[in-house]
Amino acid sequence: MIDPFGRTISYLRVSVTDRCDFRCTYCMAEDMAFLPKKDLLSLEELDRLCTVFIEKGVRRLRLTGGEPLVRKNIMHLVRQLSRHLDSGALEELTLTTNGSQLSRFAGELADCGVKRINVSLDTLDADKFHAITRWGHLGKVMAGIDAAQAAGLKVKLNAVALKDFNDAELPEMMRWAHGRGMDLTVIETMPMGEIDADRTDQYLPLSLLRASLARQFTLTDIPFKTGGPARYVNVAETGGKLGFITPMTHNFCESCNRVRLTCTGTLYMCLGQEDAADLRTPLRASEGNELVCDAIDEAIGRKPKGHDFIIDRRTSRPSVSRHMSVTGG
Ligand code: GTP
Ligand code: 5AD
Ligand code: SF4
Repeated sequence: MIDPFGRTISYLRVSVTDRCDFRCTYCMAEDMAFLPKKDLLSLEELDRLCTVFIEKGVRRLRLTGGEPLVRKNIMHLVRQLSRHLDSGALEELTLTTNGSQLSRFAGELADCGVKRINVSLDTLDADKFHAITRWGHLGKVMAGIDAAQAAGLKVKLNAVALKDFNDAELPEMMRWAHGRGMDLTVIETMPMGEIDADRTDQYLPLSLLRASLARQFTLTDIPFKTGGPARYVNVAETGGKLGFITPMTHNFCESCNRVRLTCTGTLYMCLGQEDAADLRTPLRASEGNELVCDAIDEAIGRKPKGHDFIIDRRTSRPSVSRHMSVTGG
């Protein structure tokens, strides 16, 4: 699959549910309306769609949410998809999770051929953790991270950098993560969906964070890539890697290799645009995959060049009306 800008699409992110057991303040409003269960694709339909994408050249597949591990019977889907790892068609099957259910699932994930996972963690302070996630408990996520590492999964932490919330704590979080053999990526908050807070107050450009870290640590740019948009540095003092995901200050769209599928079979060609393609109708219209293949080709043919995210005082509305939890980032 090659888009109009010559970019090869080889990475599919699949949001298996829009539901989540947390309510992170930068991600969701406290009272969110979720999709009615009847609109969801079944796990079999999700598997069928993923398989079509793999046949069309997808080599990496990431399950996201909401929180992927709260979808009922999710391990059935992971187990099914792992056959594509066995056959060599898929290079990597992974997930992005808030960690709350990892104690339960880490062993089975490893058993299905998952090698590395990304866990969202914005603070190491239990009270602040509860404040930012509204419903989450740090102890449970820590137990989940322990279980993942014990199962042999490589863990990367994701922290959204939030001004006056975790900026002062990030050096300590990095030391802690690196001390436990985990890479850390920091992320600029993106204007997606109405939330209760004001994003202008929370937004921290990572260029500022990097400058402040560079006063305490020796940061060296490295070409390390995971297939995602993070740019990594080596931190001499800790021996670990720190990634910067900077959709606001540095656009990485020119090397975009991904599309996003939601749990209703909607394909978003860009995280930062509203345009989407319905794959559920062609999927359900026939038993063969021809219609859905055509719909995918048509959608890739209109993948936009990039996003138009803006955060400033004059633009109080989010650039994209849907929440991050619809596509899982
Ligand atoms: P790997 O590099 O494969 O480990 O994953 P990743 O860092 O791309 O994925 P992850 O699910 O951990 O997402 C981390 C953050 O990157 C999330 O906040 C995503 O929303 C953001 N992100 C991932 N892909 C894109 C993208 O194409 N555009 C933008 N703007 N943000 C992205
Ligand atoms: N901007 C940036 N990152 C976000 N995430 C959720 N909402 C936003 C947002 N508005 C992050 C989560 C998780 C990843 C999938 O996306 O913290 O790490
Ligand atoms: Fe849930 Fe992730 Fe959104 Fe937090 S950021 S509410 S964990 S989907």
